[in-house]
Amino acid sequence: MSASEPLIDGHGRLISDLRVSVTDRCNFRCQYCMPAEGLPWLERADVLSFEEIARLVALFASLGVHDLRLTGGEPLVRRDFPRLLAMLAATEGLHEVAITTNGYLLERDAAALVAAGQRAGGAKLRFNVSVDSLQRDRFYALTRRDALAQVLRGLEMLAQFPQAHPIKVNAVALRGFTEDEVPAFVKLARTHPYEVRFIEFMPLDADRAWSSERVLSGAELHALIDALHPLEALEREPSATARVYRFADGRGRIGLISPVSEPFCSDCNRIRLTADGRLRTCLFSLRETDLRGPLRAGADDAELEQIIREAVWLKELKHHIGEQGFTQPERTMSAIGG
Ligand code: 5AD
Ligand code: SF4
Repeated sequence: MSASEPLIDGHGRLISDLRVSVTDRCNFRCQYCMPAEGLPWLERADVLSFEEIARLVALFASLGVHDLRLTGGEPLVRRDFPRLLAMLAATEGLHEVAITTNGYLLERDAAALVAAGQRAGGAKLRFNVSVDSLQRDRFYALTRRDALAQVLRGLEMLAQFPQAHPIKVNAVALRGFTEDEVPAFVKLARTHPYEVRFIEFMPLDADRAWSSERVLSGAELHALIDALHPLEALEREPSATARVYRFADGRGRIGLISPVSEPFCSDCNRIRLTADGRLRTCLFSLRETDLRGPLRAGADDAELEQIIREAVWLKELKHHIGEQGFTQPERTMSAIGG
């Protein structure tokens, strides 16, 4: 295999970050993602097996991908997920394996996940836990699950493991909703070892209720937070999605992810693999590349590499949110993987 040649797109961007959706299913129904009744789930046979995921991840790693993120749907609802994590974390060449979870099953799984990450050795295990509200009734309204207490217990369970730190807590920022959450999140960030990150609402919701008016921008959040406790910007790391700040008095950190108001496409190093084995080169791709078909038809690594290189070469220059003619992809966030 030509491990020497890096994975590069037609705009000169080096691809080093792969996000794998391990299931399209979810135990939540967040308004900005899924409809209340759920979505038609993929057939079991259409979902990549652990072995298929491991083979593709190893291939991507040999092409220079060193950061792996596991998402869903909700990754922890995939049966035996800690075993998959152990398999993947052992992949040669990975520096980091991150999990994005809604936290509902963390109380049950945190120990097994940390152990799985540990046994593998090499890659550093990281966690992002999504929490959109710190008030029970509002959390219920937004996620359509009365589950805040369960999620906070999961977060505490995870936080007991030193190896799981630093832990990130992600909130989608919605105008008319998140403003009132700011004081509680600021307090959380200042009193717990969590980096709280606000993500601008993107048009990836099943209900297609997105509008630019519903986006609470990173700049607006910065002003709200800074007024409570002054912030200081930290240097932006290359290809990072978040602008990271620390409170001027040294207590706690905040991240602002502003894909809508301040797109960071120009140094995007990310690609995505859906649960049914399609490669997506952008969250907003209207085109996907099937890897499962060739994989199951017996393609060898060189053939798969060729398909991957061609798809990556055509990676979109940027997203067109807010421009005339923008087309929302058919898949929702739950079927793409954040
Ligand atoms: N806009 C922004 N973030 C979203 N997420 C899900 N849907 C959207 C959206 N429409 C986030 C979740 C989670 C991650 C998987 O993606 O809150 O943090
Ligand atoms: Fe599930 Fe995450 Fe979508 Fe919420 S945002 S419904 S937790 S996949």
